[in-house]
Amino acid sequence: MMRRLPPAEATGLRTGARHALAQVYRTSDLVVLGLGVMIGAGIFSIAGQMAATKAGPGVILSFMIAGIACLLACLCYAELSSTMPTSGSAYTFTYVIFGEIWAWIIGWALILELQLAAAVVSRAWAQITVGAIGNFGVRVPRPEVVENVLVLVILVLLTGVVAAGARIGLRALWVMVTAKLLAIGAVIVVGATYVDVANFGDFHAEPQPVTTPTATVLDLFVGQGQTFGWSGVFAAAPVIAFAYIGFDIVATAAEETVNPRTVVPKGMIRSLVVATVIYIAVAAVMVGMVPYTSISVEAPLASAFQAVGAGWMTHVIDVGAVLGLTTVILVLLVGQTRVLFSMARDGLIPRRLAVISRAYHTPSRVTLVIGAVAIVLAEFVPVLTMQELVVMGTLFAFMFVAAGVIVMRRRMPELERGFRVPLSPLLPILSLVATFWLMVNLQVHTWAWFALWMAFGVLVYLGYGRHRSLLADPGRAAAATPGRGRHRR
Ligand code: ALA
Repeated sequence: MMRRLPPAEATGLRTGARHALAQVYRTSDLVVLGLGVMIGAGIFSIAGQMAATKAGPGVILSFMIAGIACLLACLCYAELSSTMPTSGSAYTFTYVIFGEIWAWIIGWALILELQLAAAVVSRAWAQITVGAIGNFGVRVPRPEVVENVLVLVILVLLTGVVAAGARIGLRALWVMVTAKLLAIGAVIVVGATYVDVANFGDFHAEPQPVTTPTATVLDLFVGQGQTFGWSGVFAAAPVIAFAYIGFDIVATAAEETVNPRTVVPKGMIRSLVVATVIYIAVAAVMVGMVPYTSISVEAPLASAFQAVGAGWMTHVIDVGAVLGLTTVILVLLVGQTRVLFSMARDGLIPRRLAVISRAYHTPSRVTLVIGAVAIVLAEFVPVLTMQELVVMGTLFAFMFVAAGVIVMRRRMPELERGFRVPLSPLLPILSLVATFWLMVNLQVHTWAWFALWMAFGVLVYLGYGRHRSLLADPGRAAAATPGRGRHRR
């Protein structure tokens, strides 16, 4: 269970990895990919919800705290993906550095992150779309039914796009990301003209006690926390980390990137920096326009513009949000296919799923499975209450990536690195501390659900992957054929 994947195999000597998928991405494409997946429900919905219910104007600080923690994690991801540019991202890094059982655990956490996030954002997309149709004056009969149909339509459509190949998805992505950036730009510029500094008031609004079901792990240790005040700012930060989810997914595009060792770190870091600036600007404008108590949880940005008499901005926000969330779902699905493809290639899940389509050069089989699971989750599970679980899975992987940088520098100093985290091990250690801090600010029941999911994952590994792993049978590994077509069966 502790067997480790040799680094040369991770980058594809045995698997033909760098030759199986079409190489289409350059730096600007990766920035678009990163912005495509980051800017979504986090800024359009969650920021306002957190301002109204947890942090008040201090939500700006929550964005800064989450942004710093994510930037530290991003530097660590950048170093490891510049050393091992593979589709598996944190899963493969962990396989090389810590061994198979840990790789499985991280892969399992990534499945939770990506699969659940795709379902959460699809549901949010359907809600926003129904709202947008209503805002254009069209009465929507039976909105719940329409939402269910929309969830199905968007997921079928985007699964098709992902299965049809990176190039088609990429073109659509450029167009939609440009449109959403224009909408966000309008929110910032127009919103700024209505900002009243009195609304920033006391940055940490009046503290109030929290009720037990929302208590965080930290509350268990330091006594009952509060919403608003500093504990509100910190409790909002990990939820807001949802907005930053996505820079890590850029790493899963490494096998499809030209010159990945230098291009992936650049794409990842640039997209995160741009997203951070945008988020802080939007959050500042939102809580600057109106007192946080009058921000609506259902339509936060629109309600702020309506309150200042700029209701026409609602349509701009609607268009930005509908397109914005569409690209989030698209890239989440792409990221999830790449991680599962890598796990299947290593034999930890059925290797049939690693088959690359001859026609489209994508792992089409695994794409269809992921699309189907996302539909079931989004249709039948109340996923909108599960955002914290997505964040938990993500942060858990961040911890291993930060630790991985430190261990890999010691154990494999000779490997070629296209990017090195400055001030190592200081920054990776700070990344570990910051990530852990965000994790203990998540709710107790999020930890409990996560523990259950991981325990189930370990059982799956013991029952399947441990015996089927390619490393468990070197004979089969040698027989594995690299390249396209029926890939490594
Ligand atoms: N960062 C993505 C969003 O906010 C997941 O929707």
